Amino acid sequence: MCKEIRINVFEIKDYDNVYKLWEEIFPDSTDSSYSKEQIELFLSRNPGASFFAEIDGKVVGAVLAGYDGRRGYIHHLGVLESYRRKNIGKMLMDKAEEALRNAGMNKVHLFVFKDNINAKAFYNNIGFKQRYDLDMFSKALK
Ligand SMILES: CC(C)(COP(=O)(O)OP(=O)(O)OC[C@H]1O[C@@H](n2cnc3c(N)ncnc32)[C@H](O)[C@@H]1OP(=O)(O)O)[C@@H](O)C(=O)NCCC(=O)NCCS
Repeated sequence: MCKEIRINVFEIKDYDNVYKLWEEIFPDSTDSSYSKEQIELFLSRNPGASFFAEIDGKVVGAVLAGYDGRRGYIHHLGVLESYRRKNIGKMLMDKAEEALRNAGMNKVHLFVFKDNINAKAFYNNIGFKQRYDLDMFSKALK
């Protein structure tokens, strides 16, 4: 029997369960930007725009979506390996895009490592267009 997938708004009370998911999916990158304090700040600045997917009480995917008043941004989309290719990533992105649209954003950006072939195929499939006219610049503030 097909188990029901629920997509829920990600609130800070869900942090521990979502953090476990991130540890599994992004084992090399759970730095301070994933700390409870940072995620609480992010969710409070972007209420109702981030989501997690749940099957039988188990968190199997999540996405952070935020906006700055002009543009929407997607971060940390991930689905547990054994649950991939079941449309869960797309369901999460549909909800995030809807929330960003409702917040008044008319465009959304995201960042993908150059060698992340699977994510690039996924984003192409759901309507994102790769940009070749931009390079990303970063600077540590602390
Ligand atoms: C990228 C990711 C979130 C996709 O999640 P998912 O739930 O497997 O994606 P979906 O099932 O919704 O895929 C929708 C469509 O995208 C395309 N797609 C998804 N993954 C793909 C892959 N690995 N290769 C080729 N196409 C893919 C397919 O067309 C798919 O439809 P189909 O299965 O009917 O062919 C998942 O692979 C993941 O968590 N990867 C590791 C974390 C990561 O890299 N996150 C992105 C950070 S930028």
